[in-house]
Amino acid sequence: MKDFYTAFFSSTESSQAHRAFCERVFGKDLCQHGFADLEQLHLLMEVTQLSPNHRALDLGCGNGRITEYLCDCTGAHITGLDFIPEAISQAQHYTVSKSERLLFTVGDINQLKLTDCSFDVILSIDSIYFSQNYTDTIRNLAAALRPNGQMAILYSYGREPWIPKEAFPKEKLLADKTPLAEALQANGLVFQTWDLTRQDYELAQRRKEVLTELKPQFDAEGTMFIYDNRLGDAQGISQAIEDGLHARYLYYIQLAEPG
Ligand SMILES: C[S@@+](CC[C@H](N)C(=O)[O-])C[C@H]1O[C@@H](n2cnc3c(N)ncnc32)[C@H](O)[C@@H]1O
Repeated sequence: MKDFYTAFFSSTESSQAHRAFCERVFGKDLCQHGFADLEQLHLLMEVTQLSPNHRALDLGCGNGRITEYLCDCTGAHITGLDFIPEAISQAQHYTVSKSERLLFTVGDINQLKLTDCSFDVILSIDSIYFSQNYTDTIRNLAAALRPNGQMAILYSYGREPWIPKEAFPKEKLLADKTPLAEALQANGLVFQTWDLTRQDYELAQRRKEVLTELKPQFDAEGTMFIYDNRLGDAQGISQAIEDGLHARYLYYIQLAEPG
């Protein structure tokens, strides 16, 4: 996984095909490797009411383009964390003039070393999957939140192509039954959810169309591994949603007021 992401963030630095892909699928090129388009990012900002008064963490920030966009839109102070040093170097390089509000750090979701009560908002955009133990990760994240702090997690869950259809636990697709929901409940956290499955399907369809059109460009650039990776996820998600075996949600958690 680390090798893939290192190659991904090195290649996307100069890939015009990937820029065009992100722009056309997600509405703006923010070097996305998740599944959130601008609409979902704006939902995240709206739900958390992200503002200049907030100190936020963007977990699994990649090369920081989304983090920077969230900061530009809201004025929030945001720390981006990712385990790929190359991605963090790029983020630091491109946002040097905004270093008052944007900080980027190399860190591992499975070895979080966050200061207790240091953030008002924690955002995870398609990054929680890399946690080896959701319950532990959520506990660590919750500890890093100030009283009344908020967590917003964009999360998809569904059948992977190599799992037989009959073996997939369909009942776990309900928003309060997914592995993430279980981890939140295990930490005593109450959550609200927004169902984004329809949007996820439309975006997967769009990815397939745009990738087909851009294939010659990816090929000419020598970045077919990005094309293959994104086509694979688009096909897998489309099929799983058609089979009723995939869901996408925004989970929102607000810690209780102290006392
Ligand atoms: C699916 S991408 C999402 C990136 C970005 N948030 C987006 O929506 O485009 C997952 C990100 O998580 C990072 N990641 C994967 N495993 C990680 C880990 N163990 N610790 C920290 N970051 C990790 C990857 O480098 C990548 O940037």
